[in-house]
Amino acid sequence: MSKLKLGGVSKAYGATMALRRGDLEVEAGEVHVLIGSNGSGKSTLCKIAAGSVRPDAGEVSIDGQPVRISGPQAARSLGIGIFYQELSLAAHRTVAENIFLPDLPVTAGLFVDRAALSGRAARYTALFDGVAGDGLSTDAVVENLRADQRQLVEIMKALATEAPILIFDEPTSALDRAQVDRFFDILRDLKGQGRAMIFISHRMDEIFAIGDRVTVMRDGETVATARIADTDQAEVVRHMVGEAGQGAQAAAPAPVAEGETVLAVRGISGVGYSGVSFEVRKGEILGFGGLHGQGQSRVLRAIFGAHPVASGEILLHGTRLAARGPREAIRSGLAYVSGDRGRDGVIHGRPILENVIPIHALRQRLHLANPAALRQKAQAAVEALRTKFAGFSHPINSLSGGNQQKIVIARWLIDRPDVLLLDDPTKGIDLSAKADLFALIRRLAAEGLGIVLYSSEDAELLANADRILVFNGGRVTRELTGEARTRFNLTQAAYEAA
Ligand SMILES: Nc1ncnc2c1ncn2[C@@H]1O[C@H](COP(=O)(O)OP(=O)(O)O)[C@@H](O)[C@H]1O
Ligand SMILES: [Mg+2]
Repeated sequence: MSKLKLGGVSKAYGATMALRRGDLEVEAGEVHVLIGSNGSGKSTLCKIAAGSVRPDAGEVSIDGQPVRISGPQAARSLGIGIFYQELSLAAHRTVAENIFLPDLPVTAGLFVDRAALSGRAARYTALFDGVAGDGLSTDAVVENLRADQRQLVEIMKALATEAPILIFDEPTSALDRAQVDRFFDILRDLKGQGRAMIFISHRMDEIFAIGDRVTVMRDGETVATARIADTDQAEVVRHMVGEAGQGAQAAAPAPVAEGETVLAVRGISGVGYSGVSFEVRKGEILGFGGLHGQGQSRVLRAIFGAHPVASGEILLHGTRLAARGPREAIRSGLAYVSGDRGRDGVIHGRPILENVIPIHALRQRLHLANPAALRQKAQAAVEALRTKFAGFSHPINSLSGGNQQKIVIARWLIDRPDVLLLDDPTKGIDLSAKADLFALIRRLAAEGLGIVLYSSEDAELLANADRILVFNGGRVTRELTGEARTRFNLTQAAYEAA
């Protein structure tokens, strides 16, 4: 009899089927790995078990008894503890308070009993002694901790439930090797105690190191379950990609880029990336792929001068870029567009016109005193992108996300750059705006720009990039060209051990 069993659970958010059909059985004394591409429904399945998402259909049972998990509290009392991927910590509270939220020991019904709290919390912080780094103590305030330390606190919080069923939704993404090893020691210990555990990770080496069984999810369904001892990485990847994806290849045959090299990056290293080298030719779209956060954005920002480069060199048209700031990068002919419009793109609350012309102003060393003269140029750039808006004087925030992104790109069209760096540019925009953007990107390449495209969506890369560099742990670990640009190869390269 399974400790935990989910049968035919599903969940829709409006038109999005987050989970079509989830079937999962977890035994006592087992680490059951869940793997699947981003958006395949792993977190939704876990949240259903943890009571933070209510399923539309399906059954959950514990020890063979059907249960109704009406909320997180109910899940806790049924013996289910969870590590949330997006973390559930209260930033202004201490480590000890977070470990025991929402069950803080109180005195006189009101005040937290700090001494009792610290004493109890110390049992969990001690588990990571020697690998947690400076500053992680029971009375440290969570907002002062590093990302890896916060992840450790979230792990401690899950462990402190002492629940017989523990769910870990990507608990190791920010941890270093020593921290992961310690965490695995803890998991082995819990296995020995007969706990039932679900573990989600994107790292094949981790999965094969700690898992007893693996269940693969694809497009909202649990598609296969196997004992780790009876399977291998290639089989897991085949299940992740699916029948239809096996041969699925880049849409267009890769045109051979024969233009001159416009951008050459030679062995650059910095925080979060190392030893990265590549060249981009005129007319070429070079793709950056791999799991999210493997150094792709950092490399693009480093080339643009917005993130430090510790060593290596960057050449534009064969000339070393001495300029180490965005301003100089722009003047040398580099452009950078991020999908994170909130941080990098839009000038909030300002009129559309002011959002179109700053690059022109910078490159021509103009001042913004007489924007009227620029109106015509801006108009042409915006029209090229089929941007819908009422007038240049309207605030940028009045536009949809897709149209805001077009305005941000239009900035770079008044004076053409030589190299366009695209940092996951279509994040959060609708399908028709995406199609317009990629049509424009391909047109710009045809006109001779060198383009580097990082996309977190494999389909976008396969459809648009002539070559794909796969990033893993801050390094380029694979290059996919021509026929090799398949969904299978891209998935395999992204998930293999760094
Ligand atoms: N609260 C939500 N509202 C709308 N869509 C959601 C929500 N949570 C998840 N989704 C969507 O459901 C799908 C599955 O998401 P998730 O379970 O988080 O996948 P995974 O953890 O495998 O990356 C994705 O397409 C995601 O965008
Ligand atoms: Mg998830």
